[in-house]
Amino acid sequence: MRKAKVDPHVQCIAELEALAGERLAKSVFDYYAGGAGDELTLKDNVLAFDRIRLRPRMLVDVSDIDMSTNLFGCQIEMPILVAPMAFQRLAHEEGEIGMAGAAAKHKTIMVASTLSTCTLEEIAESAKDRIWFQLYVYKDRDITLELVKRAEKAGYRAIVVTVDSPVLGRRLRDMHNQFQLPDHVKISNLRDRFLEQFPVVDHQSGLAAYIASLYDRSLSWKDLQWIVELTELPVLVKGVLRGDDAESALHAGAAGIVVSNHGGRQLDTTIASIDALSEVVQAVQGKIPVLVDGGIRRGTDVIKALAIGAAAVLVGRPLLWGLSLGGADGVELVLDIFKDELANAMQLAGAADIKALTPDLLAARS
Ligand code: GLV
Repeated sequence: MRKAKVDPHVQCIAELEALAGERLAKSVFDYYAGGAGDELTLKDNVLAFDRIRLRPRMLVDVSDIDMSTNLFGCQIEMPILVAPMAFQRLAHEEGEIGMAGAAAKHKTIMVASTLSTCTLEEIAESAKDRIWFQLYVYKDRDITLELVKRAEKAGYRAIVVTVDSPVLGRRLRDMHNQFQLPDHVKISNLRDRFLEQFPVVDHQSGLAAYIASLYDRSLSWKDLQWIVELTELPVLVKGVLRGDDAESALHAGAAGIVVSNHGGRQLDTTIASIDALSEVVQAVQGKIPVLVDGGIRRGTDVIKALAIGAAAVLVGRPLLWGLSLGGADGVELVLDIFKDELANAMQLAGAADIKALTPDLLAARS
């Protein structure tokens, strides 16, 4: 039924991306699909998963597969979360409300972006109670404070602070397209502050100009501590790629880490996030959960991330392709595909539950 609405022939994420590319306006597709610089990290995020090979176990009873897990008191049906992604109304009029509704139906967590085009309150209502808030820190600290307090009040269960964006990466596609939001799409969380639109700039990405003028590029680990002290909610740090930064995050009171290079959209030629995971997992020594995003396109990718030590993964672009093709139904289709692929991969790898996704499933790398 969902498949029929989107395309009856679709069987995997790559096919959805091709369809979305035909459907979306060029500047929107470029904004979602693109990365920074020569897009080397963008590509490597996917290729790095392909370089990892599995060592499946045989004759394990896999008649019942349990993919569920628990993160900060949220019970979820599969270890796949919705990554924070900006401006979802560019993909479909349902925007973040549609995305959150689909995540709720699949009993997983959505991380709503500061740069959402629906308000954080509307998104929380659609998500039921499996919802985390991704925070960008503005120079005006009152804005940060207000966003955190609104998220607490609306029932968010965690704050995810993005630490890899003191400035925006040089995204050539957006620079060529002079990326702007159309009039009907606003940064809804910042409406009262009149920060709901980008400045108009020539031969530049409007988003880059917005971030250059508003985000706090002086942010440091002591500010993270300030955020941790500001809220009762667990604070996760997103954008860590090194063991020593993971230790700093722990020291500042982080409750979790998301290993991420922002989908290859910030510093080009950084290490693929799956290649950074092991160092971070070792640094935190099981004290807090480590999640990872970037390049996850297959059920087997999820197995690999969890076998290295991730507690869960976050998926971004594939869900936007689903949203753009069918609103909430399209997102559900993507989650269905991931769920089917993950169940199949776990059965064939000899892992009946996610605790059985351990490093021995991975071939040694040359
Ligand atoms: C927004 O957060 C982006 O990275 O485009």
